[in-house]
Amino acid sequence: MTGPAPRIRPRRLRRNPAVRELTRETDLAPRHLVLPAFVREGIDDPVPIGSMPGVVQHTIGSLRRAAAEAAEAGVSGIMLFGVPAVRDGRGSGADDPRGILNVATEAVVAEVGDALVVQTDLCLDEFTDHGHCGVLTADGAVDNDATLDRYVAMALAQARAGSHLLGLSGMMDGQVTVVRDALDAEGFIDTLLLGYAAKYASSFYGPFREAVDSQLQGDRLTYQLDPGNRREGVREAAIDEAEGADVVMVKPAMAFLDVLREVRDTVAVPVWAYQVSGEYAMIEAAAGNGWIDRRAAILESLLSIRRAGADAVLTYWAVEAARWRRG
Ligand code: PBG
Repeated sequence: MTGPAPRIRPRRLRRNPAVRELTRETDLAPRHLVLPAFVREGIDDPVPIGSMPGVVQHTIGSLRRAAAEAAEAGVSGIMLFGVPAVRDGRGSGADDPRGILNVATEAVVAEVGDALVVQTDLCLDEFTDHGHCGVLTADGAVDNDATLDRYVAMALAQARAGSHLLGLSGMMDGQVTVVRDALDAEGFIDTLLLGYAAKYASSFYGPFREAVDSQLQGDRLTYQLDPGNRREGVREAAIDEAEGADVVMVKPAMAFLDVLREVRDTVAVPVWAYQVSGEYAMIEAAAGNGWIDRRAAILESLLSIRRAGADAVLTYWAVEAARWRRG
């Protein structure tokens, strides 16, 4: 050896599995995971989603079984997305008690009770024939305040269907305030609100658009955030917390880990992250080609999201990852 032996040896903390276990900073447990799931109206069998191998559009029956399986695996929640058979300009299916998402919510709550936090996407894009998250003005712009009225109607329908937590993913200004006030006025004081505070206009939603059969032409840049903006994401999270959101979300996850960390350091409420369809598709595609170790890459991606500050993660791998982490 040339020179003095090192006196400071960080490798001591890595010397064997027991020391590494004892000093690990971040953990990933089944309770940190929420499963997003799609349910489609008018199908007799589940329909595979080509760009998301292993993920399907469920029937009500297969969704019930998937929810029971998730609870069995120790996953904490399920986030439901509806794919209606018919769409219109105002997204009428969203607040119809017989609409697919509301019917599916009742079925899942009947199946699992409180064993999962049953969550519903509160946004109009799956239900509108133009694919935007709100209603449009005569000249085609997304009308913020008219959309708020639709979100209130949708929120009440979801709460009546038994949803435990409403995921406000539409990025309209004031959405948390109006929905909280409407729920409280109707006595739904225990229904939780998740504000998708920092939701970026992302290319990583690509496969989701297939999953919900999206009708969108154009983009969502007048309401979702510009991927270059960190401070604006933190500001949105602070606003949602001030409006009374019980939880705030950063989405997507892996391309926005810096935003996630800063939001976690800024607000006091739980912060969740959504590992979106494109993140899922990338890892599945690379693993499918034999280019990366699938299981290791999935677990590393989830651990990274936890390390960046997510208290919980929405991921299409929730059930599989929960089983791995249970050993
Ligand atoms: C909007 C919504 C989207 C996703 C979840 N909620 C799509 C969008 O904003 O275009 C994307 C989720 C994913 O990509 O996995 N209702």
